[in-house]
Amino acid sequence: MAKKWTQLWLQYKPRKDCGNKGYFENVWICGFSAEHKIVVNLLKEVEKAAAGMLDVHPDFKEWSADETAHTGMLLCKSEVSHIGAEGYEISEKAGLLTVSAREEKGLLYGVFHVLRQVALEQSVSDCYLCINPDNPLRMYNHWDNMDGSIERGYSGESFFFANNEVIVDERIEDYARLVASVGINAVVINNVNVKDNATWLITDRYFKDVAKMAEIFEGYGIKMFLCLNFAAPMELGGPDSADPLDPEVRRWWEKKMEEVFEAIPNLGGFLVKADSEGRPGPFSYGRTQADGANMLADIIKDYGGIIIWRCFVYNCTQDWRDYKTDRARAGYDNFIQMDGDYHDNVILQIKNGPMDFQIREPISPLLGGLVKTNQMLEVQIAQEYTGHQIDVCYLIPMFKEILDFRTYCAKEDDTVADIISGRTFGNKNCGVAAVCNTGNDVNWTGNDLAAANFYGFARLAFQTSLTAEEIAEEWIRMTISCEQEVIDTLMGILLPSREIYENYTSPLGIGWMVVPHEHYGCSVDGYEYSRWGTYHRADHLGLGVDRTYNGTGFVGQYHEPNVSMYNAIGTCPEELLLFFHHVPYTYQLKSGKSLIQHIYDSHFEGVEQVEEMILAWESLDGKIDADVHRTVSERFQRQLLNAKEWRDQVNSYFYRKSGIPDEKGRKIY
Ligand code: GCU
Repeated sequence: MAKKWTQLWLQYKPRKDCGNKGYFENVWICGFSAEHKIVVNLLKEVEKAAAGMLDVHPDFKEWSADETAHTGMLLCKSEVSHIGAEGYEISEKAGLLTVSAREEKGLLYGVFHVLRQVALEQSVSDCYLCINPDNPLRMYNHWDNMDGSIERGYSGESFFFANNEVIVDERIEDYARLVASVGINAVVINNVNVKDNATWLITDRYFKDVAKMAEIFEGYGIKMFLCLNFAAPMELGGPDSADPLDPEVRRWWEKKMEEVFEAIPNLGGFLVKADSEGRPGPFSYGRTQADGANMLADIIKDYGGIIIWRCFVYNCTQDWRDYKTDRARAGYDNFIQMDGDYHDNVILQIKNGPMDFQIREPISPLLGGLVKTNQMLEVQIAQEYTGHQIDVCYLIPMFKEILDFRTYCAKEDDTVADIISGRTFGNKNCGVAAVCNTGNDVNWTGNDLAAANFYGFARLAFQTSLTAEEIAEEWIRMTISCEQEVIDTLMGILLPSREIYENYTSPLGIGWMVVPHEHYGCSVDGYEYSRWGTYHRADHLGLGVDRTYNGTGFVGQYHEPNVSMYNAIGTCPEELLLFFHHVPYTYQLKSGKSLIQHIYDSHFEGVEQVEEMILAWESLDGKIDADVHRTVSERFQRQLLNAKEWRDQVNSYFYRKSGIPDEKGRKIY
């Protein structure tokens, strides 16, 4: 029999009491209807968690004010102003633990907070806290296709679709529980590249099942979104055009959206990839991105819908001989002129870097470049360029760097975190999305350790002040073990894993050097003479792309002082040196090493670090779940092969180009 999927951080295995048991004996509800879908679900969750972790079966009751000496847990509606719409307050006094919220969703998050404390074996006695989520939209984007495949998926097939049908089963509910427990409030279920059957998701061929799925999500406070095909009018029997300013096209969409929202009233809206990598869009009709986005947004406004419009628009048929065209410039160049033209219910979704989810990139200058437009950050936890969930790569430290980056778009509150949370511009339609890393593998993410990203992104989206360490420790305790030795060992593996991956792959921000299309494994020149605009420009003297004012001028897209910092080789952060500058192999880095020596050293070191991670992991044999241990061990062996291949190819390549030997005389081919 096929094994059932795991419960990840919601395993509810027995826990030390830590004084928490008493709160679960009596659970009162006050001011919320026990029949509300979300409340029904959260009570079910409390019951399951209490039974599993503390062996207690709660008595659920309506609160009556005349009862004296209450002890237990009170789930209470509150109108106090410091609790925001999706926020919650938790306080404990004399044996009564009160979780207060304005709305059911906030209550759900508050209850999951309490359950997390129990799972972490932390006492809640005497606690007081009030948490409002930092980002209005906290979203997972799934790139699932209707045939069941997943674009850039590394953990099995889709659990949303199979054989061109929508799946509505128990796993959808478990997925909703998992992501709601960490505060996700929006999910896109289909691939941004909308083709074939997926175009039909907005027709009655699929309405019934899509509506059912949206309803499951609603019970966990999650809005479901769909990706749209901009050319849908043409493909679904409408007018022979998708021109956003053509009245006939507009009328077609009006009628279509009326049907869609009648069938799926709680749909959140749509995510659109237009004019990108072969997808249709307004450019084909000489219209702007704003024309396209606004047309759709206006039509769905009355249904409360929003249009999330992606900024991943660039020329993917570039000539490698052309040193002036720079893919990094494209997002900004395509979107900046229309800053302020986008309607209120449009959000521009911007990838964290100007290229494409590389292991190291600067922040996209569109973030904070736009000052009159709703902005949303897009990151990727699907490890497309970061090891395919074979190699361990805990991405939360990278996301922290992104969020903390000062854009200087305002005098204060100008970090990426400020912008996407709405603090900088006082807007509400904003937030953060991650391209998700799940599939129908038993353990959801292929590599069990990749679930730390699935958990961590969401926790960070909810509370951006959490540290990468705090998130890692929570995840380990909830998922793997509460034993200190295990925690320490795993922290030692996860926290440096991004830097380790960077060490054995492409150096100092240059990116790429991957096997084309597949994006796993090394191929230094794989994309060097291709049309994709992804070059390292290495010759016998040096490497890197000159994006200064002497080169492509990309640096000019930032605000000062970032422009000057990146433009001068001496002040450019060294981890991004080759992204911004073409640098001689003999250039001396701050460490005193030459560039070429740095390349050799970091690649040898990267492999050694993988070997150390493996030893650390092997020390956990017998101390954690055997299946998890075996699965991850097997992946570590593949990671080691991958790291060695990268090391030897990169080192040999640059040795052959430069003719400069390794100072330490190690084996280079
Ligand atoms: C990358 C990725 C594609 C994806 C695209 C996108 O280019 O390789 O598979 O479709 O990003 O973000 O739209």
